[in-house]
Amino acid sequence: MNKERCLEGKTALITGSSRGIGAATARLFKEYGANVILHGRTESCELKGLAKEIDSNYIYCDAGELNSVVKKIESLNSNIDILINNAGIARSKNFWDLDSRDWREVFDANVLGVVNFSKAVIPGMIERKYGKIVNVSSIKGFPSNAGSSAYAASKAAVINLTASMANQYAPNIFVNCVAPGFTKTEMTNQTWSSRIKRQVDEIPLKRMAEPREIAETIVFLSSDKSSYITGQTIIVDGGLVISN
Ligand SMILES: NC(=O)c1ccc[n+]([C@@H]2O[C@H](COP(=O)([O-])OP(=O)(O)OC[C@H]3O[C@@H](n4cnc5c(N)ncnc54)[C@H](OP(=O)(O)O)[C@@H]3O)[C@@H](O)[C@H]2O)c1
Repeated sequence: MNKERCLEGKTALITGSSRGIGAATARLFKEYGANVILHGRTESCELKGLAKEIDSNYIYCDAGELNSVVKKIESLNSNIDILINNAGIARSKNFWDLDSRDWREVFDANVLGVVNFSKAVIPGMIERKYGKIVNVSSIKGFPSNAGSSAYAASKAAVINLTASMANQYAPNIFVNCVAPGFTKTEMTNQTWSSRIKRQVDEIPLKRMAEPREIAETIVFLSSDKSSYITGQTIIVDGGLVISN
């Protein structure tokens, strides 16, 4: 197989792919030969524009609502071989200022989103005895880099959820996780501060990641090149977690 076409023949659903890391992953998956299905919370211009650009189908729904997720996936009427659970939100408030609504919104998007999409595709993967699920956590999910508490707790949950699901669904379904460091997307634009700038200065590679650099690791974990890896979280952070 041509190494550049390592996802040939596979259908991949990428959540939160209207922009940022998800959009970069969608473009790369297309380059590597996958049939891509995009997803966003709403039918935004970005989502429709990317679908046109890479000639792919798309769905939109709130990742935190199981019924909507299941209905949208059923409406696709297509077998999902690869699921990338990338959709997520950040809340950069300190612990005291986070109210119950903030906690629910973050956990609905970042944790239940992973659970809901996985529940919707796993039955088909079991039936076909094949599936790759890649969850997107964050370096903030590790105690050494924990940031805002709701976001950090949700991303730590994704790391353990990955291991738990991998254990339960082996040997036919692989479940792995990528934990990015600071990456140039709208999410970091929104939360940019002098504190983040100081942290970026401390990154051994001296720069933020391009979304495509995160996407390359997602491709690796989605392809059969990672045929003996399951339950793991790969950190892609330019060395930040080992810099302290
Ligand atoms: N950027 C970073 O530095 C960084 C670092 C570590 C980890 N991450 C993680 O990487 C993932 C992607 O981040 P990003 O920086 O690319 O973010 P982004 O540019 O803000 O994009 C987020 C995507 O997720 C979708 N989304 C958010 N909440 C949703 C919900 N409740 N239901 C459905 N879709 C939802 C958005 O859809 P709409 O456009 O329709 O709202 C959008 O497509 C996230 O899980 C994030 O936590 C990012």
